[in-house]
Amino acid sequence: MSATIIDGKAFAGRVRAQVAEHVTRLKEDHGITPGLAVVLVGEDPASQVYVRSKGKQTVETGMASFEHKLDADTSEADLLALVDKLNRDPAVHGILVQLPLPGHMNSDIVINAIDPAKDVDGFHISNVGLLGTGQKSMVPCTPLGCLMMLRDHHGSLSGMNAVVVGRSNIVGKPMAQLLLGDSCTVTIAHSRTKDLAGVCRGADILVAAVGRPGMIPGDWVKPGATVIDVGINRVQHPENPEKTKLVGDVDFASAAEVAGAITPVPGGVGPMTIACLLANTVTACSRANGLAEPEGLTA
Ligand code: GUN
Repeated sequence: MSATIIDGKAFAGRVRAQVAEHVTRLKEDHGITPGLAVVLVGEDPASQVYVRSKGKQTVETGMASFEHKLDADTSEADLLALVDKLNRDPAVHGILVQLPLPGHMNSDIVINAIDPAKDVDGFHISNVGLLGTGQKSMVPCTPLGCLMMLRDHHGSLSGMNAVVVGRSNIVGKPMAQLLLGDSCTVTIAHSRTKDLAGVCRGADILVAAVGRPGMIPGDWVKPGATVIDVGINRVQHPENPEKTKLVGDVDFASAAEVAGAITPVPGGVGPMTIACLLANTVTACSRANGLAEPEGLTA
């Protein structure tokens, strides 16, 4: 292996420490405790794990955590009433409604009911529009984490060729906007892209966000490129069929032979997502109170 491993777990620890420092300043200098409300509808096991982890890390960084668990058959009107209550609650600076929502709800309606200033996921159409026009916004957590790691590794990204594989609203599209904001030449590729291998081989920065295990092999990677693997896929363990393991969208073993730097799975992008949620909460709280934003924790 020749690539430098970008350690997202360690990086996330540093981000959380910066968040905690800013929280201390908000509390001691201004008497303000940032608060994050997380709403979970139903009992999806993976979502329950995420929500628990978010609550724990929120408290560990000194912020207030408000968890709202609603039955799977809650009506959309009742969920919207809760969102409205949280929008008006001055102790709540960030609101996250865990996705996916049950099938009888329209997630666009619910997400767009959140006060954009409290939309720590950055999914509200106002924030999407602000990001797309290069204005100050709340930025989706996973792409923000990827950007922080890229800036940390490279310093300036200006003029680099970036290829984002995947066009989701949560990762691919905002990732492309952020890279464009840092003056990369950006290509968004996807399942219908012609000569996907050739497109990927032109990338100085290759971001894989497709949700297909090991889809990008080492021979699609330009020698020396930086590879950011957003995929978190659970597959059967190769040596023990009774066990599972997590793998990314990139074939790590072959890509690490060619890349200059690469994020592993697990321990790469994953831990950065919750760290950036905490960062967004402290940013939202600072903005709401007309105070300076935490340095290095925003796009
Ligand atoms: N479900 C899986 N990831 C996310 C996320 O980043 N935000 C929300 N709201 N739901 C999710």
